[in-house]
Amino acid sequence: MHLMQLQKRTMAIAGLVMFGYLIFHMLSNLTFFSKELFNEFYQWYNAGIIRWLVLSVMVVVIGVHVRTALKIRVISANARSVNYYRHDKVKLPAFVVTASLLFLLFFIIIHVIQTLGFSTVDVHQETVILFQSFWMLIFYIAGLFVLSMHLQHSLANVMQTLGKTSVTSQSLAWLVTLSLAAGFALLPIYIYFVMQ
Ligand code: HEM
Repeated sequence: MHLMQLQKRTMAIAGLVMFGYLIFHMLSNLTFFSKELFNEFYQWYNAGIIRWLVLSVMVVVIGVHVRTALKIRVISANARSVNYYRHDKVKLPAFVVTASLLFLLFFIIIHVIQTLGFSTVDVHQETVILFQSFWMLIFYIAGLFVLSMHLQHSLANVMQTLGKTSVTSQSLAWLVTLSLAAGFALLPIYIYFVMQ
């Protein structure tokens, strides 16, 4: 297989694993609306090796995803001097894209550090305390915003590769991304605006 194809396949597989995790993570977070269920879930999740297993897989997969992305950048930069025709309506300057993805990485690292500091006895209470801070609300919404932009773009690309038309893949990608982001955003917004 062509080197570039191999890299792109690796990226897509790593992306798919992360996407699966995100759906699982969002759905389990929605049990927040039942304190008992949420705490029971996270107590079970933290009791054995599951959490460490999930965390290790995520670290490896994020590492592979980022590393492959950097390799693809190098290959593309060496291969073409003239850019492809772009179908995107808005074209962000490259440094804005790079900076936003670095922010996403930073967001994930901070989030993992924060949740590792959670007491596993009452994860519900820990989550409530976290989102009583206005700055944490802003930080998480900003993280979710960048994640959404990145996901919409990459899901649309993957679907187009799989043969969907541009219009179908764009709208499907928006639908999936916005549902996921809304599911995640519900918690911080509810805690900050309704619970206190
Ligand atoms: C507002 C939304 C979110 C909330 C409320 C939330 C909450 C949590 C909680 C409570 C834990 C672990 C607690 C425990 O096991 O004791 C956790 C872990 C984690 N979260 Fe989130 N999360 C959110 C969004 C995200 C997003 C957007 C990502 C990825 C882009 C993410 C990635 C992770 C990872 C990688 C872990 C560590 C592995 C694990 O313990 O499952 N989270 N999150």
